[in-house]
Amino acid sequence: MNDPLQAKAYAEADFSCADEALINRLQDYLISLSKVPSPGSMIVDLGCGPGNICERLQCLWPDVMVLGIDGSQAMLDHALQRQKAMAAELKRLTYRCSNLSSLVNQSVDLENSAALVVSNSLLHHLHDPNLLWQVTKYLAAPGAIVFNRDLRRPSSTEQAIALQQKHMQQAPSILIRDYLASLHAAFTLEEVQTQLDHAGLDHLHVNEVEDRYLEVFGTI
Ligand SMILES: C[S@@+](CC[C@H](N)C(=O)[O-])C[C@H]1O[C@@H](n2cnc3c(N)ncnc32)[C@H](O)[C@@H]1O
Repeated sequence: MNDPLQAKAYAEADFSCADEALINRLQDYLISLSKVPSPGSMIVDLGCGPGNICERLQCLWPDVMVLGIDGSQAMLDHALQRQKAMAAELKRLTYRCSNLSSLVNQSVDLENSAALVVSNSLLHHLHDPNLLWQVTKYLAAPGAIVFNRDLRRPSSTEQAIALQQKHMQQAPSILIRDYLASLHAAFTLEEVQTQLDHAGLDHLHVNEVEDRYLEVFGTI
């Protein structure tokens, strides 16, 4: 999402309900494992966009380091601007502009470094979805937790339009266009399970959530 207009429309949209729901589910999952990220450990948010999830993670765990990685400088410019406005709360949040395809074996400082790897709404953007799973394996410390959420592909164009009208009726046309494109590009539960099998991550769980999401979570 390198187009500045696309990045601006995305950064200005209000995804707070969906973001909060993701954080709540992540917290519930961690509670079920009796785990919390320890002070000084690192959380990586892949495809962090304008930083909406990074900010929530940092506010939740102020002693933890949060690293947002995104391939679009236009998106990260919004993230950095927002961080400036919340500087006191986001002291341990950093961003890195990097395409996922150049992370594995080229970011040795990050290898096996993350206690928690998250992503929201990233998988369907990747030409090769295996990239997410390879990068996750590269970044995750032994015993790390992973938590990914993405859209899942509806079974027809009519269903995609119904979802858009239910969840994104009042939005700039650029966002509506991107939302429909994202629904079409998204994966089904079976497809994600096949990706995980190929990546050697078949022990991760894949769930359908609500009428439009998939969640992939587990321990590395
Ligand atoms: C739909 S946005 C999601 C942003 C954010 N995670 C959120 O929760 O709102 C997808 C983000 O993934 C980034 N992205 C897509 N493909 C990427 C890649 N190969 N490497 C790094 N970032 C990528 C895009 O630049 C964009 O910021």
